[in-house]
Amino acid sequence: MRKKVIAGNWKMNKNVHEAEEFMKEFIPLVKDSQNEVIICAPYLDLANLVSIAKGTNVKIGAQNMHWEVNGAYTGEVSGEMLKELGVEYVIIGHSERRQYFNETDETVNKKIKAAFACGLKPIVCVGEALEERERGITREIITQQTRLALEGLDNNQVENTIIAYEPIWAIGTGKTATSEDANNSIKEIREEIGKIYGQNVASRVIIQYGGSVKSANARELFTTSDIDGGLVGGASLKPEEFSKIVKY
Ligand code: 13P
Repeated sequence: MRKKVIAGNWKMNKNVHEAEEFMKEFIPLVKDSQNEVIICAPYLDLANLVSIAKGTNVKIGAQNMHWEVNGAYTGEVSGEMLKELGVEYVIIGHSERRQYFNETDETVNKKIKAAFACGLKPIVCVGEALEERERGITREIITQQTRLALEGLDNNQVENTIIAYEPIWAIGTGKTATSEDANNSIKEIREEIGKIYGQNVASRVIIQYGGSVKSANARELFTTSDIDGGLVGGASLKPEEFSKIVKY
């Protein structure tokens, strides 16, 4: 049985004070949840969040990292730096980074390898654009992104990679993929992993759905055969609403 992993992606929201206020309200609301709960916050919030979350069931993640350990990369943050802080997870290859910050399948692959090298668990995003969906090439796009992201990883690393299937047209739009559609795409991703790394590995990989997840649709999505939880944007900013998603 795969566990459910519910991660909030705050994107560029919440300063240190706001992050602290959120946690005060959120931690008690989810303290009895058996699901894995992760908050992926802006870099500046991380040190404080790690210290607040210590001893609770809430884990902390970053939203990006560089693939080098250190060096002349102005403005960047390495996985080593995150790990040293006590961060456990890192989102890699979010569509907003692919779209606005030149993230490619190649840099995604480098970052995943670097994350494992320093002991961070990657949450890797894949997903098709609306135009690709309309052209009927969703399957090609998401299986190719998955294949290239995981290239060169060993079975153990693949099993420990969380994949987030986030159709780009569903992000921040209020349009959710139907649970059937999302589950089918996730099955296709799992099949692709199975072809390369074997059924055993594929059956253990956590694959989340992301894109306008809210408390009103979480249950329907997360109780399908292959959706193992969610990567939640807007609805993760409110403690009460996000706690309802965690406890779907
Ligand atoms: P929304 O939940 O706001 O649609 O964002 C989804 C997302 O991009 C999470 O990474």
